[in-house]
Amino acid sequence: MTKRLVILVSGRGSNLQSILAACRSGQIPDTQVVAVISNRPSARALELAMAAGIPALTVDHRDYGTRTEFDAALQKQIDEYAPDIVALAGFMRQLTTAFVRHYEGKLLNVHPSLLPAFPGLHTHAQALRQGVCWHGASVHFVTAELDAGPVIIQAAVAVLPADDEQSLATRVLDAEHRIYPQALAWLVSGRVTYAAGRTQWREPPQTATREAIAPSLESSP
Ligand code: GRF
Repeated sequence: MTKRLVILVSGRGSNLQSILAACRSGQIPDTQVVAVISNRPSARALELAMAAGIPALTVDHRDYGTRTEFDAALQKQIDEYAPDIVALAGFMRQLTTAFVRHYEGKLLNVHPSLLPAFPGLHTHAQALRQGVCWHGASVHFVTAELDAGPVIIQAAVAVLPADDEQSLATRVLDAEHRIYPQALAWLVSGRVTYAAGRTQWREPPQTATREAIAPSLESSP
């Protein structure tokens, strides 16, 4: 049966685009994006959704006095679409424990770092400040603690001597676009699930498949 996917966004929507393309190409099999919901009415992601003929809605966080009220309204809106999976794709709001529990095991996020390093914001600046050799992106199940849920797939990106925030962000974003559709494909097929606070595998993929390494080291000075 076709899986129903709701995508939550706040801005540009490049991860949304990569997921839509993967649904179209069949990389994410038997899946329909049934709604795109933003907490910001001006999000470009909403335009992308509309252009793709997908219901695009806003639940504006500024209309609610508390996080709990906002999350309850968001949850109500999401549940009207009876999703099998909810994917956060650049959704820039912290979620309450009640919301996260409601979608336990079917709520995914992409984060621009190799978690558990650099949770929260400004991950590229943090990576440069720390002088790490490797940075990257992670897709993980969402749990109550911010950016701390169990990882499904990661992509490592070498930090180059000439990097600034922008150049690093560009390569990490490219990695996000590769790993998010892969994680969703595994979830849809039941190959990966969430149980007892951990990522569980049926036929675990090769380690190499779970840690896509972006090329760059060989070509660096
Ligand atoms: C991505 O880097 C995502 O990991 C982060 O915000 C950015 C959103 O980009 N949380 P986009 O809206 O998918 O283009």
